[in-house]
This record gives sequence, structure tokens and C-alpha cells, in this order.
Amino acid sequence: MTEPVLEMDAITVRFGGVVALSDVSLDVRPREVLGVIGPNGAGKTTLFNVACGFVTPTQGRLTFEGADVTGWGPSSLVERGVARSLQGLGLFDRLSVLDNVLVGADVHSRAGFFSSLLALPRGARDEQALVERSMDVLERLGIRDRAASVVGGLPYPLRKRVALARALVAEPRLLLLDEPASGLSEGEMSELGDIIRDLAGDVCVMLVEHHMDLVMRVCDRLTVLDFGRTIATGTPEEVRDDPDVLEAYLGGAVDDGPAQTTGGHGA
Ligand SMILES: Nc1ncnc2c1ncn2[C@@H]1O[C@H](COP(=O)(O)OP(=O)(O)OP(=O)(O)O)[C@@H](O)[C@H]1O
Ligand SMILES: [Mg+2]
Repeated sequence: MTEPVLEMDAITVRFGGVVALSDVSLDVRPREVLGVIGPNGAGKTTLFNVACGFVTPTQGRLTFEGADVTGWGPSSLVERGVARSLQGLGLFDRLSVLDNVLVGADVHSRAGFFSSLLALPRGARDEQALVERSMDVLERLGIRDRAASVVGGLPYPLRKRVALARALVAEPRLLLLDEPASGLSEGEMSELGDIIRDLAGDVCVMLVEHHMDLVMRVCDRLTVLDFGRTIATGTPEEVRDDPDVLEAYLGGAVDDGPAQTTGGHGA
């Protein structure tokens, strides 16, 4: 049995009177893509924010590679091996693609990872290694030929790849993606799916996403949230046929009983 990379154990998050997450547990296993889906207001972004350290759970425990990291902030988690690509891309528009990616690589150099591992002095050789690693990541994402381009002049889908490259260059063991397909065409989404599948050989991924077709194609397992609770977990096939999931997505159109009124949707 392999140990999960990330575990959430009975996570509850309250914002004042709003219960955004209630007793949610999940795990992300090595080389796996775990999808998190659910209707508007279900708690997906809150869950994502707990995983990257932006939100501290009111109750429950977050474990990364066996260590209790509950309450750790984003920068500590990044140094530990958790990378994220946010909806707002947070790129430096006036810098080149390569320089933007190097900002992500700096996580290791600050932590002394390369210098200590290779006994290198800080300086030219260190820098060269980071550039090479950054170029490798750009290659893998199909944008190596754009390394020298200024980010602000690139079309949105390419900017998204730069943001992803920046997250990956730190060689994370867990990659967190919040709505990576937003604003992409069908074709671009399909390419993104291929990229995520390719990455999953090296890094496990938690994918928070609205687009069902992408999620169904890319994820090994899914967790479905509704009103801050887990209503289903399983393979895409299992989840797709789950009556609770159908009801959540159809807004109570399935004919047994009224929809829940615990608040949240449309808030
Ligand atoms: N900072 C906050 N303060 C107060 N309430 C919040 C806060 N963040 C989220 N909420 C509430 O928590 C619930 C879950 O929100 P969340 O953004 O996690 O849902 P979501 O599944 O990401 O929704 P969407 O599909 O619209 O992105 C909602 O009722 C939302 O209004
Ligand atoms: Mg959201």
C-alpha cells in the first residue's frame, strides 16, 4: 500500500456563519490525478485554498507526505513540494517567459537545495542549472520556442502554460490546479488534458474544474462536493452514474424529495 501524498482529514472551514466545507476527507495518491468537482458554491475553491495553505481549516488535519502541515502558510508548503497554478495567473507581464519561470525555480535556490545537493557555490553554475531546468519544463509544455518572448504579448492560453511551467520548475510532488481550463477553447482544453496526463507520471495532481469532459478524461478518481460536503467519491464512471451527483447537478430535478436548503448555491 502506498502512502498518500496529500491527505485531508475531516476538514471543516467556516467563514463567519457560512460553512464552506463540512467534514471533508480525501487523499491524493502517488502518480494520480484527483479531480474535485461540484456545483457553484460547493466549496471547491475553499478546498483548493486549504490545500495550498491560503485558508487554515477551522477543524481537521492536512497531511503532506506523512507530515502534519495543518496551518502551514503557502510559502512553507511550496518549499515542501506543493505547487499551485492560480486562476489569476500572477505573471510578470514585462518579463520574458524564461524569467517568469526562473522565479518559480528560485524556490529551490532559496532553500539551498541545489547548492547543498551538488555542493555548488552560489553563482554561475547554479544559475545555469536553473536555466536548463526551466528550458526543459518549457519544452515539455510545448513553449520552448517562446522562452525569450515577453509574457504580456502572448495570447492567454500560452500565458496559462507559462504559469504552469513556473509551478512545475520547482519540481513539486503535488500540483494543485484551480479551473485550469477556464477561458480555453475545446482544442486547447484537449491539449491541456494531454499535458496533465503526461505530468501525472512525475507529479500527482489535484484538479479543481468545472468542465466535466476534461475532468472525466483526465482524472483517475473524483471527489464531488455539494454544499460543502462530499457527496460522492470514485472513478469518473462511478461518479457519473451516481444519483446524488445527478441530483446536485440537475438542481433537484430528479424526483425524490426537495433539494437541500443548507445554503451555499447561488450565494
Ligand atoms: N472568504 C469568504 N468569506 C465568506 N464566505 C466565503 C468565502 N469564501 C467562500 N465563501 C462561501 O463559501 C461557500 C463555498 O465557496 P467556494 O468559493 O469554495 O465554492 P466553489 O465551489 O469554488 O464555487 P464556484 O464554482 O462558484 O467557484 C460559498 O457559499 C461562498 O459564498
Ligand atoms: Mg471556485
